[in-house]
Amino acid sequence: MKIVVTRGLPPATLAPLAELGDVWVSPHDRPLTADELCDAVRGAAAVVSMLNDRIDDSVLTAAGTQLRVVANTAVGYDNLDVAAIARHGATATNTPGVLVDATADLTMALLLDVTRRVSEGDRLIRSGQSWSWDIGFMLGTGLQRKRLGIIGMGHIGRAVAERATAFGMNVVYHARREHPGVIGRRVPLEELLATSDVVSLHCPLTADTRHLIDAAALHRMKARSYLINTARGPIVDESALVNALATGVIAGAGLDVYEHEPDVHPALRGLANVLLAPHLGSATVETRTRMAELAVENVVQVLTGGGPITPIAVPSR
Ligand code: GLV
Ligand code: GLV
Repeated sequence: MKIVVTRGLPPATLAPLAELGDVWVSPHDRPLTADELCDAVRGAAAVVSMLNDRIDDSVLTAAGTQLRVVANTAVGYDNLDVAAIARHGATATNTPGVLVDATADLTMALLLDVTRRVSEGDRLIRSGQSWSWDIGFMLGTGLQRKRLGIIGMGHIGRAVAERATAFGMNVVYHARREHPGVIGRRVPLEELLATSDVVSLHCPLTADTRHLIDAAALHRMKARSYLINTARGPIVDESALVNALATGVIAGAGLDVYEHEPDVHPALRGLANVLLAPHLGSATVETRTRMAELAVENVVQVLTGGGPITPIAVPSR
């Protein structure tokens, strides 16, 4: 049985796959190109994919009818055509649960950094410019009694709500359904945008959420408010965000993801009021190891005839 891993994972996590078949791990220190991906998956029973691999009909056709499972090493799966995977007779899996705390922690890191201008101050010191403490020097925004608006109240959104509450923030959220028992009150999107001091995105990227934060939404946001995105880049219209940041429509933004990742809108690099992180949401040793282990466990379960641990539901349509 051929098992394809599209980019290196911690070697120890791959051991269970080696017991099941011939494991091919991409030797490249970069994502595979679309052509390389099609070549790599030919004849595979299982593919362990990364979030930057687009697994679509052409890749699945290239793989062949023996394909049983596509195990995405991420909780987000907008890179998978889940319906096509099902049509091709395979199961799709992701890695929910294991990265909740790491991603919520990074969300707070961006939120604290951008509202208190930590990275901006770091850049100032590194630039060699002179500076001294004075009562009005590099003032940011306090969080206590401020409103955090969370869009998407899954596990990560809830973990962010808990953390923000510990910092003294009040939480509201927007979600398709009520989440009984969570911190915060459910409000319509318009109200969330118009009343939140910080808006943080925790929804998946879908046809419904693509450009959810566009020019109109940014203009609806409170003056002097902040946007945090640790979800997926295309949820935000990046050009509209550049305009909003450059013209002071909002005060600042903390971004971990980008519309055309890994490319970043060139104008963002020139703006002082935006913090740019390179997709680090789940990037701790512990979490990335658990993600790799869970992706591998899903493959082992499917190939040995058990049910996958964390299957992705096939969209009904
Ligand atoms: C990371 O972005 C993930 O979806 O796991
Ligand atoms: C600030 O550093 C203070 O001592 O108030």
